[in-house]
Amino acid sequence: MKFFLDTANIEEIKRVNELGLVDGITTNPSIIAKEGRDFEEVIKEICGLVDGPVSAEVIGLETEDMLKEAREIAKWSPNVVVKIPMTEAGLRAVNKLSEEGIKTNVTLIFSAAQGLMASKAGATYISPFVGRIDDIGTEGIALVKELKTILTEYKYETEIITASVRNINHLQDAAVAGADIATIPGSLFPKLWTHPLTDIGIKKFLADWENVPK
Ligand code: E4P
Repeated sequence: MKFFLDTANIEEIKRVNELGLVDGITTNPSIIAKEGRDFEEVIKEICGLVDGPVSAEVIGLETEDMLKEAREIAKWSPNVVVKIPMTEAGLRAVNKLSEEGIKTNVTLIFSAAQGLMASKAGATYISPFVGRIDDIGTEGIALVKELKTILTEYKYETEIITASVRNINHLQDAAVAGADIATIPGSLFPKLWTHPLTDIGIKKFLADWENVPK
């Protein structure tokens, strides 16, 4: 399973990248806004740090606007993947961009039908938002399971990015469901490698070590 970091924060990216755990990055307009930096500048800096796909999202809602932005964003780095919202205009753009060899990540996927449409239109990646589905009282990870079954059955090459990951269970369940990728917020990542019993275990070992004759 690949891990993407769902952040545009350079310090968070460097910290996790040094552990060899980062296969790519996803951003969205909210994530970019948090950094208070120029969009192009921050995406280019991330592409220089990470050896893998870096998703950068278009703002336009009409196909022609999306295409214009996507073609420009795609020039920033060979790593760049253009994030396109899941709409009819978005599907039209994805279809065209896939013909042009520009990689896409179709975002804001909330149903299996949407995921199937995006894959058929030629999306490189689809992003089901599990946390936001949980927020409205439905089980988000069930969508990842459905999409995995569908894409495997019909042999689509589109990869599933489990997005809107909020906790350790989301990540573990996405792995069990066979998601190709999980995109994880920088704040959650350290929680994935820590466990209270590990900390207690280390303390106990060190305390017992004091009793070893020196
Ligand atoms: C991923 O591509 C999305 O940008 C992100 O996972 C959304 O997460 P949120 O629902 O926590 O904002």
